[in-house]
Amino acid sequence: MLGDAMTTLGILVGSQGRGSNMKAIATACAEGEIAARVGVVVSPKGNTPAVETAHDLGLSVAIVSPAGEHYAQRLVDELDRYEVDWVCLAGYMRLLPIEVLQRWPNRVLNIHPALLPKFGGKGMFGHHVHEAVIAAGETESGCSVHRVSEEYDKGEVLLQMRCPVLPQDTPESLAARVLELEHHAYPMAIRQVMDATG
Ligand code: GRF
Repeated sequence: MLGDAMTTLGILVGSQGRGSNMKAIATACAEGEIAARVGVVVSPKGNTPAVETAHDLGLSVAIVSPAGEHYAQRLVDELDRYEVDWVCLAGYMRLLPIEVLQRWPNRVLNIHPALLPKFGGKGMFGHHVHEAVIAAGETESGCSVHRVSEEYDKGEVLLQMRCPVLPQDTPESLAARVLELEHHAYPMAIRQVMDATG
């Protein structure tokens, strides 16, 4: 449908951003797997791999620094400027300002590199997650795409993909296995939730 094709995503990356999930989402849009386009990639700073990748992909990039006044308003304004319908967090590490959730209710998504509700919450990011999974003796991990709510990693889980935790795994080897899943899970979840929402 023409209406669906016009759906616009805003992707928020973080200051450590590698941008691999951003790239997976943008590729899925370009290849028609998701009936949407990436309107803008928002980054807290300019000199990150994610920003470089966004430029390489020909995406619009906006830099919105969390330092200084009125961060929430500046963020909302920038996303509005590109007429974003959905907001996808991809490596965004901060607690998202409530104003974004109020402006796009139920339309803010995130991906977490573990099987929520386990191994989520404040401080559970990057290698901390995979260290905790291994330390807990889990035999399975994976990723969770979820709606963003006011608390870290507490919103509705939309889709999970699973992989084994191997006895010889390090946090790095587990992270790599999970990241590969993320690149399938995030586009798939976006497509499903957009289809279900209309
Ligand atoms: C991913 O591991 C994701 O689960 C988490 O942040 C990381 C972002 O990685 N929320 P990348 O920048 O997309 O490569």
